Amino acid sequence: MQILRKSEWEGFKKILGMDRKEVIKKVKESGLKGKSGSNFPTGLKWELMGKGTRYLICNADEGEPGTFKDRFIMEKNPSLLIEGIAIASYAMDVHKAFIYLRGEYSYIKPKLERVIKQSEKYLKKINLKININLGAGSYLCGEETAILESIEGKRPVARQKPPYPSDVGLYGEPTCINNVETLANVPLIFLGEWNNKLELYSLSGDLENPGVYEIETGTNLKQIVSLGKPRTEPKVIYFGASGGCIPYKKFENLSVNCKTISEQGAMLGPRSLIVCGKDRSIVELSKIITEFFLHESCGYCTPCREGNFRIWELLKKIEEGNGKKSDLKLMEKLAHHISETSYCALGSSSTTHLKCAIKYFKEEFLRLCR
Ligand SMILES: Cc1cc2nc3c(=O)[nH]c(=O)nc-3n(C[C@H](O)[C@H](O)[C@H](O)COP(=O)(O)O)c2cc1C
Ligand code: SF4
Repeated sequence: MQILRKSEWEGFKKILGMDRKEVIKKVKESGLKGKSGSNFPTGLKWELMGKGTRYLICNADEGEPGTFKDRFIMEKNPSLLIEGIAIASYAMDVHKAFIYLRGEYSYIKPKLERVIKQSEKYLKKINLKININLGAGSYLCGEETAILESIEGKRPVARQKPPYPSDVGLYGEPTCINNVETLANVPLIFLGEWNNKLELYSLSGDLENPGVYEIETGTNLKQIVSLGKPRTEPKVIYFGASGGCIPYKKFENLSVNCKTISEQGAMLGPRSLIVCGKDRSIVELSKIITEFFLHESCGYCTPCREGNFRIWELLKKIEEGNGKKSDLKLMEKLAHHISETSYCALGSSSTTHLKCAIKYFKEEFLRLCR
């Protein structure tokens, strides 16, 4: 795996002789895109930073269900991540960086602290301090503006955008927020042996071999899923909780990338594939995911808070055999309304799973309706 390459700060040593703008140019030319699922060009994000006391935040909250690739990097190759943070900080003229670490990953904190300490001689060269902040425990905490609130000691809820964090971020200053995998790829670019097409996938669900796999973009669904060794014939693939789902058989030969998955109405996101076998009930899966969003909704806006509750009630009714065909229509209408009117991206992606489930498995819902 290229992400496990031990770099010994070779990438960092190369950038020290370079102009900041040159570093950004090289990252832009490399084609590196945000690995949180944002797919936003990383070099461009760095270039867009406003003037002021700039901050960098490494987003290690990893809250998307079925996602564990960032944990893998931090456990197996933390030094590559710290080097990536140092290069990004140099490029953006940042002197204070933060690692916002998922609360459940607190056991990794001492390891990261050790690596930061061991890297002091390099960090001193660019006058960089790296802080580790433990996540405040909700899915929304991973959203970039909620992180800002959390680090500032407030309740972690989303801020309105614009202004974007690149202009008005932490303590009102320009802030860049990048995912762990994004930053860990940065030193590899400067080593000159980076394969732009390799990305990490978290495979889980009804599998004999769940885990993290490094896979070339465009590999077909069947090849990806077969790495995890399905226990039974796969029926449906979920892309985390927020990315929706696609039926396996229909799309097993589909070459997987952001575009091909979004063309089917789903979102690849941080490449977390939850493989559900042939005996799984779509109505039950829809209810479980709705319960997740109900639990994680911050409650600020009505569509996300109340709408998901209404959807849950309708799913329960259908599951118990008391639903009507008109309930399915109502649920579909609600799902669209929630995604279009929610205040933040948590709400707007909270019904993608249901829209996909109804699109591809309508018969299964109708069979339970009167
Ligand atoms: C509800 C919600 C949760 C998120 N959780 C995470 C997360 O745990 N880790 C992450 O890197 N990005 C997460 N994001 C995306 C971040 O807001 C942000 O786009 C990302 O950290 C940018 O990194 P990148 O440019 O390297 O992709 C989340 C977004 C939303 C809407
Ligand atoms: S969509 Fe609204 S209720 Fe849901 S998490 Fe965002 S702000 Fe909170």
